[in-house]
Amino acid sequence: MGTRRVLVTGCSSGIGLAVAARLAKDEFKRFKVVATMRDLGKRGPLEQAAGDSLNKTLEIKQLDACCEDSIRECVNSLPDRRVDILVNNAGTGMIGPLECQSIVDMKELFDTNFFGLARLVKEVLPDMKRRKSGHIVVMSSVMGIQGLLFNDVYSASKFAVEGFCESLAVQALKFNIKTTLVEPGPVVTEFERKVYEDAEKMDLSGTDEETAKIFREVYLPYSRKVFASLGQTPEEVAEQTVEVITAKQPPLRHQTNRLYMPMTALKHADPTGRLPLDTFYKMIFKHDSVFNATLGVLRMLQKRVGKK
Ligand SMILES: NC(=O)c1ccc[n+]([C@@H]2O[C@H](COP(=O)([O-])OP(=O)(O)OC[C@H]3O[C@@H](n4cnc5c(N)ncnc54)[C@H](OP(=O)(O)O)[C@@H]3O)[C@@H](O)[C@H]2O)c1
Repeated sequence: MGTRRVLVTGCSSGIGLAVAARLAKDEFKRFKVVATMRDLGKRGPLEQAAGDSLNKTLEIKQLDACCEDSIRECVNSLPDRRVDILVNNAGTGMIGPLECQSIVDMKELFDTNFFGLARLVKEVLPDMKRRKSGHIVVMSSVMGIQGLLFNDVYSASKFAVEGFCESLAVQALKFNIKTTLVEPGPVVTEFERKVYEDAEKMDLSGTDEETAKIFREVYLPYSRKVFASLGQTPEEVAEQTVEVITAKQPPLRHQTNRLYMPMTALKHADPTGRLPLDTFYKMIFKHDSVFNATLGVLRMLQKRVGKK
């Protein structure tokens, strides 16, 4: 197989940056990377990470996932408009009690996380169909499988992404186009910093005292512990994304964090939904000591896995 052109969205930081840099530095030089971001003023960290590959196997272009014209302009600028692999990564987060979130903010989140994907796919799919080849790789989340309290809107956007891809994958396969949902658990990036910063500033006067207290005193410390214990680096997610891209038969779904899998497995173990509901409820509200002990064990396992 010759060199494949990969278009990655959201490369100013985090997972997108790591995926773009990792692909560009591929030892077999299998990829030409079109690393895109909405604000080219933020290109510094990517240029640094790309090192010698900059302007050789990696070029940086502007692309705003919320603007069809910007997407078209970017794809039109590529020779034959050819995108062999799309890595749809751009995304934003949002946490907090629903009563304190505006519909405008919710729509903005969907505009990036879901409609951004729809816009990108609409732009590249017809060419992929004509060529009868392509791979659509989408940065989803474990929250696209299993919702989590105070992540209602973010989780809904990732469920939308999952439903979209699951439906599209069947049609795409007819044209020899592969679809893969990469599902990371917690990853330590700007994403985490931004959602916590927003959470600290959040005006909780729109909700009742008990909910505000649960958010501040139970959810936020819980969530920070999960990130500290189970969080992966963007480079780890990038490595696994490359494995998915180079697989002979790429999977429809790939969870990047083995330690998080027991949480998502609950969903499939009980079609009534009671098992995950009860487990999350107890973990968060009833069994703080069990929760802490479980994280301790998982942290140990994480270290062992890391050593291998
Ligand atoms: N971090 C996690 O725990 C985690 C877990 C599971 C899944 N994910 C998913 O992984 C993806 C990447 O997140 P990350 O953790 O790497 O966060 P990040 O460091 O905040 O990166 C997000 C990227 O998306 C870009 N972006 C946002 N809106 C955009 C738009 N309209 N057009 C183009 N780019 C846009 C951001 O650009 P700006 O710099 O301009 O804002 C940034 O480059 C997201 O889809 C996220 O949902 C993250």
